[in-house]
Amino acid sequence: MPAVQVAPNVYWVGAIDPGVRDFHGYKTPIGTTYNAYLIMDEKITLLDSVRHGFSDQLFANIAEIVDPAKIDVIVCNHGEPDHAGSLAEVVARCPKAPVYCSPNAKKTLTSYFGADSWDLHVVKTGDTLSLGKYTLHFLLTPLVHWPDSMMSYLPELKLLFSNDGFGQHIATEERFADVVGYDCIFDRSRDYYANIIMPLGQPVKTTLAEAAKLDVEIIAPMHGTIWREREGIAGIVSRYDDWANYRTKPELAVIAYDTMWHSTEAMAEKLAEDLRTQGKQGSVFSLRKSHISQVVAAAMEARTIYIGSATLNRGMMPQVAALLCYMKGLGFKGRDGLAFGSYGWSGEAPALVDAALKDMGFQTGDPVRAQYRP
Ligand code: FEO
Repeated sequence: MPAVQVAPNVYWVGAIDPGVRDFHGYKTPIGTTYNAYLIMDEKITLLDSVRHGFSDQLFANIAEIVDPAKIDVIVCNHGEPDHAGSLAEVVARCPKAPVYCSPNAKKTLTSYFGADSWDLHVVKTGDTLSLGKYTLHFLLTPLVHWPDSMMSYLPELKLLFSNDGFGQHIATEERFADVVGYDCIFDRSRDYYANIIMPLGQPVKTTLAEAAKLDVEIIAPMHGTIWREREGIAGIVSRYDDWANYRTKPELAVIAYDTMWHSTEAMAEKLAEDLRTQGKQGSVFSLRKSHISQVVAAAMEARTIYIGSATLNRGMMPQVAALLCYMKGLGFKGRDGLAFGSYGWSGEAPALVDAALKDMGFQTGDPVRAQYRP
């Protein structure tokens, strides 16, 4: 994928990874991109690098614009390996360039990548760096997505480099959300938010409040496509506001289950049918066929979550336990829940699921059990 102009003198020079299917446990069925950006100004500036193993794409893209050795400034907005994994190679190829980063990123880079000998320049919110015509402004955004995360902003172009924020895991040759289509990109943004950003509602709200003070016409995240139209920017910011505030839709429900001999499955299908007759939408997921990361993406906006498990060895089915563990970590809030399941003789699973839902703060109804066949 060649370099792509994002704005005057600003280029996407990142890498596309269509093959990645697992992002620390989050299934990524259509891959991702690792976005890096090059600003051609009096000080030639590279914002971020790419995952280890993808530096050939990065350097080839930079070389279309300029010799990488001529880069004057490197900015590291985030030290997670999907963005900083090639930074050591970049530092080696750009020997005169200092690396600007947050105080926490200095710790990350030093601990993770042995950056003690790098020329690290620590910045904080409000600090600026003149590049010539353009001036970079730095905004620390801790916990969106790691404590070290920050965003960078070019006021002359009204361009926000938003780090993990507003990103999507999608491997596409297209660089702009409006070209791929908003229906697709909003859905991929939802999947990404649910699986990565969801536990971080308060830091996201803080970041949205700070970003609202900026005049933004382009949002360039470090994954997926770039937002450059009013419709797209308004749409994704509005969705982030909903998601950060854990708003849900009463008409949406998710039904996730694992079954032994199809009885719990039959209960799940009857639930979905009953919801339809009430004018609600119940999305059904067999945990044998759907990964838990798909389930939580669908569940993020659902008011009610039904979880079914057959009883296996006096406990719940293992995939149901995995879903509940994952949901607890993601911090689902303010939901209604119901446990259900079939059993042969002991039947503990629905009560165990109910206890797990209550532990997450769900309002639950009495668990529903059916012996052998519902
Ligand atoms: Fe895309 Fe938190 O790294």
